[in-house]
Amino acid sequence: MTSIKLRAVVALFGLALVCAAQAQQAAAPKKAATQTKKAANSSPSAIAAEFEKFRDIMEDASPAELFEAKGEELWKMKRGPKNASLEQCDLGQGRGVVKGAYVRMPRYFADADQVMDAERRIVYCMVTLQGFKEADLAKKPFSSGSHTPDPVSLVTYVAANSRGMKIAVPQKHPREREAFNVGKEIFNYRAGPWDFSCDTCHGESGLRIRTQDLPNLTSKKEAIAAFQSWPGYRMTGGLMHSLQWRLNDCFRQQRFPEPGYVSETISDLMTYLGVNANGHVYKGPGIKR
Ligand code: HEC
Repeated sequence: MTSIKLRAVVALFGLALVCAAQAQQAAAPKKAATQTKKAANSSPSAIAAEFEKFRDIMEDASPAELFEAKGEELWKMKRGPKNASLEQCDLGQGRGVVKGAYVRMPRYFADADQVMDAERRIVYCMVTLQGFKEADLAKKPFSSGSHTPDPVSLVTYVAANSRGMKIAVPQKHPREREAFNVGKEIFNYRAGPWDFSCDTCHGESGLRIRTQDLPNLTSKKEAIAAFQSWPGYRMTGGLMHSLQWRLNDCFRQQRFPEPGYVSETISDLMTYLGVNANGHVYKGPGIKR
């Protein structure tokens, strides 16, 4: 397993110290036998055993990659009432161009006369090109149990094709600038039973809820957290989720009514968050705790 993947597991479970000890323990037998896995597996520690379980999974493949592959298949397959693939879908870089599209969204699309984030655009293409009904796609839009909605796999595929690229959410078109301003307003809008806004939890550095660090999404330095590792495979629950879900879940945390699926509100917020993150390198669909 690569050291990057190993580090991801370590970060996910807050096991840095345990693992350092574990690594030292495992290092000795490794020198002698190179049978590191066996050596580690024989450890009696329950935490280490848990770690090994995920290590094995990640050695086989990053779970996010499975959804990436599924998304690619869905992208290329002729489907829906119109029996068409998504290869004619324009994600902003020209019809069928997937490379680099994710880090340049949300953006304004003249055909829809809307600012759209990646998932919103994918759903738009599924409706216009393939003939799916938006209302059907909105019925169960988030992963749960063994159900992963097609747009989630598709957005994972699209996002993976921007891996290693700089985030460059455009602000050229007036509608894109408007989306940013509206997004900023929503971000700072306090209401609900707790009088919270997004800013209450994400407007300052160093805030935490229980053991979770809350990124300061208004700071150039930390704003990358909005983009980074979404879409992400969440170890909690073992589900693949997109940024669409993450934002929806934060509305819920804020005790706000949840916005509609692929709504303008979410695109506006993503524009605000994305522009704040501009210039950072997107490392692609990842793994979340
Ligand atoms: C009550 C506190 C709270 C409020 C209010 C809140 N969030 Fe969050 N947010 C969280 C927590 C907790 C996480 C998960 C952090 C983690 O997994 O480490 C999170 C994660 C996120 C992430 C992903 C960051 C990452 O590292 O994965 C984004 C983006 C985000 N929130 C945006 C928003 C937006 C936009 C709003 C307003 C609609 C909002 N949040 C309101 C608590 C909040």
